[in-house]
Amino acid sequence: MKPSSTLRERTTFSDEVARLVSYNLYYLSIGGELGDPLIVDEHYAVNLATNNYLGLSNDPRIKQAYIEAIEKYGISMCATPVAGGYTDRFEAATELLAPFIGVDGLLIYPSCYQANNGLFSAIATKDDLILFDRCAHSSLIQGAMAVGCRALPFAHNDMDALEYLLRKKTGYAHVFVASESVFSTEGSIAPFADIYRLCMEYGATPVIDDSHGIGVLGSHGGGILDHCGITDYEGIYTTSMGKAMANNCGVIGGRGHLIDHLRYFSPHLIYSTAIAPCVLAGIRRTLEILADEYPERIARVYAYRGRIRDALNRAGWPTANGAAPINSVEAGSSEDTVLLSKALYARGIVTTPFVYPSVPKNGGRVRMIAGANLSAETIDTVCRVIGELKRETLNEPAFA
Ligand SMILES: Cc1ncc(COP(=O)(O)O)c(C=O)c1O
Repeated sequence: MKPSSTLRERTTFSDEVARLVSYNLYYLSIGGELGDPLIVDEHYAVNLATNNYLGLSNDPRIKQAYIEAIEKYGISMCATPVAGGYTDRFEAATELLAPFIGVDGLLIYPSCYQANNGLFSAIATKDDLILFDRCAHSSLIQGAMAVGCRALPFAHNDMDALEYLLRKKTGYAHVFVASESVFSTEGSIAPFADIYRLCMEYGATPVIDDSHGIGVLGSHGGGILDHCGITDYEGIYTTSMGKAMANNCGVIGGRGHLIDHLRYFSPHLIYSTAIAPCVLAGIRRTLEILADEYPERIARVYAYRGRIRDALNRAGWPTANGAAPINSVEAGSSEDTVLLSKALYARGIVTTPFVYPSVPKNGGRVRMIAGANLSAETIDTVCRVIGELKRETLNEPAFA
């Protein structure tokens, strides 16, 4: 049978992006570490594009932990964990990480995308129902869809909508409720204490993706469970170590029976190369550093968020009002979104433009995350540039 469309027709999104920008703002070429300044396309720039909230990505102490682990354990495990095992760096990392997050036990996946994407296919069946926040991350939604069971969205952070579905949708073998803790395009924080309470009331299992919450929320940076004061957590927790935690890999945490099950029934864990020992060593070192430095670092992140948000609003750029340390300019159409991000780039500030289909049509966002590694003078520069940025002249000059 002849296919109804060609591969060329199916891959026009990149052409569309290329039409909107004369050079590509995606897949930038970075010429060094995530420093202040950042070297991008051979120019100095201010980095507001990565999730390096706590500024630890190039911390010399964490680098040293990687180097020492490579010296001792080598580079790769060259096998899946079930076949070749881990090193003792696995226990060393998880004995600090599990209490930091507030879970009984955890598993480490190569990435949180992989963890989220594989979670439901390992625990849910066709007879189950998965309710998910409409704005939840692609990895959770794709993972839910892969099960082939009923999967329904509820309005973003809307507890009435969630409760309505929990009350009405009965007759399923099991119900899961999935959400992110911090929604990174909006900077909004899920009312997870309420989600958790509703789940317990209706016998559902909460699944919270804390990728942008860990290292950002809570009294010690433990993330959403710490933020909500939840102890003895009865749900499923996932997170990325590649954002505030400045390492690489994904985590699934929860009760012992869940961890034991996933250890033998999660293909996304079992059939993928074990995480490298140096990464586990880096995670432990990061946690040791945060035990001393979290309050000071996170205070700076929120102060920078506030200063940049004020500058944007004073200059007439509307922002989403989320409580997380993220500024998200409501930029409108894909074209306007890319234009704003490009104008900032031309003035030496790197941001992330989110366009359809990552966000709804005409709901474009330019995201800015100012990490704790940026100096107060750098934030002065950012605020000055924003103050001078006029809608009418967005198309103008080159690098500052
Ligand atoms: C909310 C959320 N979940 C999961 C992921 C995936 O995490 P990782 O980079 O560890 O695959 C991301 C990364 O963009 C994310 O923002």
